[in-house]
Amino acid sequence: MSKKKLAIGVLSSHGGTNLQTIIDSCKSGHIDAEVRVVICNNSRATAMERAKREGIPCFHMSGATHPEPGELDSAITSTLTEHGVELVALAGYMKKLGPLTLERYRGRVLNIHPALLPKFGGQGMYGERVHKAVLDAGEKVSGVSIHVVDEEYDHGPVVSQRQVPVLEGDTPESLAERVLTQEHILYSDTIQDIASGKIDLDNLPQMD
Ligand code: GRF
Repeated sequence: MSKKKLAIGVLSSHGGTNLQTIIDSCKSGHIDAEVRVVICNNSRATAMERAKREGIPCFHMSGATHPEPGELDSAITSTLTEHGVELVALAGYMKKLGPLTLERYRGRVLNIHPALLPKFGGQGMYGERVHKAVLDAGEKVSGVSIHVVDEEYDHGPVVSQRQVPVLEGDTPESLAERVLTQEHILYSDTIQDIASGKIDLDNLPQMD
């Protein structure tokens, strides 16, 4: 009898390259999981097209589709639940999750951030701003962090990290590109470690 696959829901806002890598890793068997549903807050997100192309149920949900207070949060929670999602992966999702979703999936929502948290995270630290801040600070090493999502931006316990060197002459664009390549690898590897039980989200090691 084949082992039950970890059911993932992915939330994304734009390009969805991390989403694509997670889908591809599920299809190749590198991850013992399946993407059950994709939710985007942006109807024109390439991530929506990627999900459709793969035949994965995908939904546009935003303040435009659910304008009443709390309605969006409730719709996201029920969509994830109805699709049997066990682990939620934020992949370039530019919105905060509401209290219902966070409570329903407490400790089971991951986010990927393109720097070594707790440095270079928090509100307003996204996209090239992160890499510009790393370069402005003269860092020699940047990287990728995957963390559990809580009520604050880029704040919950770190699950995994990978370092990426900052090279002489780097621009925010060149650093972003090098970091993104490692994001793809780390997200898939981390999800697989969760699926296999190597990483226990209920007993994460304490970070200094
Ligand atoms: C990534 O750099 C991720 O770290 C950040 O948003 C970007 C999303 O890229 N949170 P993509 O949509 O997966 O291509």
